[in-house]
Amino acid sequence: MKILMVGAGSMSESLVKGWIDSGISPQTITMTNRTDRTRLFALAEQYGVRTTAEEQVEQFDVVVLAMQPDGVLDYIQQQTWTDQLVVSVAAHITPADIEAHVSCGAVCAMPNTPVAFRTGMTGLWFGDLISDQKRQQATALFERVGQTVETNATTMPYLMAAAGCSPAFFYEIVGAMTPVLTKAGFDASSARQIIAQAMKGSAELLLHEERPTAELIDDVAAPNGPTDRGVRVLREHHLAQAMYAALMESAREDH
Ligand SMILES: NC(=O)c1ccc[n+]([C@@H]2O[C@H](COP(=O)([O-])OP(=O)(O)OC[C@H]3O[C@@H](n4cnc5c(N)ncnc54)[C@H](OP(=O)(O)O)[C@@H]3O)[C@@H](O)[C@H]2O)c1
Repeated sequence: MKILMVGAGSMSESLVKGWIDSGISPQTITMTNRTDRTRLFALAEQYGVRTTAEEQVEQFDVVVLAMQPDGVLDYIQQQTWTDQLVVSVAAHITPADIEAHVSCGAVCAMPNTPVAFRTGMTGLWFGDLISDQKRQQATALFERVGQTVETNATTMPYLMAAAGCSPAFFYEIVGAMTPVLTKAGFDASSARQIIAQAMKGSAELLLHEERPTAELIDDVAAPNGPTDRGVRVLREHHLAQAMYAALMESAREDH
């Protein structure tokens, strides 16, 4: 299977790293971009992938469109497609947008950067023209680097907000928590480690639990104890409303 990554930014690199760690040979992956050749060659050096300056998509089995959204449809129209698995990871591009120009079908995927560590969450929106075999191929490709869920026109914006965008939301929270630990005397690296490990453990527990989050809070928060008092402060500062509003804003398409 020969994979072409069109775009060499953070999402492209995250996928390449995850796929190589999952056992895909770097020599079957080719990356390209348009301007920043220094970055492209640095990625080639780091991961052992191939690069190209003038690709022909018909020489690849899988083409991942990982450039900024405004470049996707121009690129699609400039190329000659045969029977590739066409995967766009660009926000706000739909399978129908792509399938208006390619008859081999398209998948719009919304991964997140944790695919680099094979802990990604990817939404997959399959076009009307996609075959069952390509549907399975795309699902298998993204399951190598985490979990997948099928999405559609209605659910994709919210999946994007809750999975594609949310790493940044979590980093914002970590950034707010860190000074408390550094002021107490931990160095910045230890502070990050402590918070990230606490978040990772909480996520792991959530993945193994079905009880509502309110009950899980009760497990940690004895009445008037330190957790209970901290949760009360979060509620006084309307954290829940802020998180809800952030997701709704990220999901908004009429921006
Ligand atoms: N970052 C995320 O967490 C995330 C999550 C989900 C989805 N996405 C989607 O993934 C895509 C890339 O995001 P990103 O964060 O990786 O952006 P980025 O860091 O800005 O990378 C975009 C890359 O595309 C290259 N590029 C631009 N136009 C090109 C063209 N016509 N042909 C080939 N390469 C081209 C750019 O390089 P040159 O300018 O040097 O050509 C750059 O390497 C976006 O569409 C975004 O919506 C990102």
